[in-house]
Amino acid sequence: MVTLLGPPTLAIGPLRVEPPVVLAPMAGVTTPAFRTLCREQGAGLYVSEMVTARALVEDNVRTRRMLAPAPGEPVRSVQLYGVDPSVVARAVRVLVEDWGVDHVDLNFGCPAPKVTRKGGGAALPVHRVLFGRIVRAAVGAAGPVPVTVKLRMGVHDGLRTDLTAGLTAEEEGVAAVTLHARTAEQLYSGRARWEAIAELKRALRHVPVLGNGDVWSAADARAMQAATGCDGVVVGRGALGRPWLFAELAASYAGRPLPSPPTLGAVAGTIRRHAALLAETLGPLTAARDIRRHVGWYLTGYPVGPSARRKLALVETPEELDRRLEALDPALVLPAGSEALPRGHSSGPRPVDLPERWLEHAEDPWPPAGADAFASGG
Ligand SMILES: Cc1cc2nc3c(=O)[nH]c(=O)nc-3n(C[C@H](O)[C@H](O)[C@H](O)COP(=O)(O)O)c2cc1C
Repeated sequence: MVTLLGPPTLAIGPLRVEPPVVLAPMAGVTTPAFRTLCREQGAGLYVSEMVTARALVEDNVRTRRMLAPAPGEPVRSVQLYGVDPSVVARAVRVLVEDWGVDHVDLNFGCPAPKVTRKGGGAALPVHRVLFGRIVRAAVGAAGPVPVTVKLRMGVHDGLRTDLTAGLTAEEEGVAAVTLHARTAEQLYSGRARWEAIAELKRALRHVPVLGNGDVWSAADARAMQAATGCDGVVVGRGALGRPWLFAELAASYAGRPLPSPPTLGAVAGTIRRHAALLAETLGPLTAARDIRRHVGWYLTGYPVGPSARRKLALVETPEELDRRLEALDPALVLPAGSEALPRGHSSGPRPVDLPERWLEHAEDPWPPAGADAFASGG
C-alpha cells in the first residue's frame, strides 16, 4: 500500500511506502500484469520496466505501450535510463505531465556490455560531474514528483562509485538512493555485499537508503535491514514466479504469522491469471508465449517432472496453457526448505567494457557519444 505521508515508515518524497518494500524494476518482468499480481498481495511500491529517455522524447510506440498503467494502479512508478541531462529533463517532463507518474527511478546500474562500452549504465557514475548534472536535470524537471537513483557498488572493486554517487545524488535532491550491493563486474554472481549498503546508509544523512540484492524471503528482508540499517528493501529475483512473497513481507512487517506457500493448484491459478492479465495488453496468443518465461520460476521447488515443465515452457495458446496446467497435481505442496530457492539471473563475474580512456575524463560534464542506445537490465 502506498499513501500520502503519515507517520514515518519509508518515505520517498511525499509517498509513504508501507511495508518498506519495493519491487525492483526488471525488464520483461515488471509489466502491468506482474505489478498487479504483486500489488494484490498487499505491499509496497512497484516499479515498472525501464524505459529510455531518448525513446520517450521520440514518442516511440513500444515505449508508450510499456508506460501503460495497470488498471487501478494507485501509484505510477517508472524507471528511466538516460545519459544526456537535457534529454532526461525532457523525458521526465513527459512522464510527469503527460503520463502523470508519481515516482521516477533513474537507472545507473545496468552492466550490459553494449551499455557500459559506451559509458552508460553502471559506467556513468565514474563521470561524476555528468552524473550530478543528469540527476539535477531530472529532479528539476520532476517538480514535486520524487526522483530516486538505483546504483551498483561501482564498476569493479578497484573502481567503486557508490559513496560518491550516493552523496552527489543526495546533494542534487533525490528522494532516496537504492544500492544493488554488487559491482557491475560481479553481474549477479556471489553474494550481494550488504556491508556496502550499511556504509552508504552511514554516509547519507538526509535521504532514505534502500538495500537491494539477495532478498529471497521475508527473513532476508528483515536481516538486511538489521544488518545495514537501510530504510527499505528492494526485491528483484526473489519475486520471480512468487508474487505472494509480498504477502509474506507484509505479514512479517506487521508481526503476523507468515502465510504458507501456495499449493501447486493455487500456483497454477496464479499462472492462469498472470496470462489473462498479460492478454489484456498483449492479446491472448502473445500472452501465452510471454508467460513461458515465468513458468519455470513459478514451478521452482515444486516436485513437477521435467516433461511437464518442458511442455509448459513451450505452450503456444491459452487453451494449451490451460490443458497443461490442468495436468498438474493441484494438491502438491512446496517441500520444506525450497521456499526461497534462487531463480533468475546468476551469471558473472565478467570484466566490464568501458570506453577508451574513460577513467582519464572523470570530470567531463558531457554525455558520452552513442550511450543513449536502447538498453535494458540493471
Ligand atoms: C530479469 C531481470 C531484469 C532486470 N532489469 C532491470 C532493469 O531494467 N533496471 C534495473 O535497474 N535493474 C534491473 N534488474 C536488476 C534488479 O532490479 C535487481 O537490482 C537485481 O536483480 C538484484 O536484486 P535481487 O538480488 O533482489 O534480484 C533486472 C534483474 C533481472 C533478474
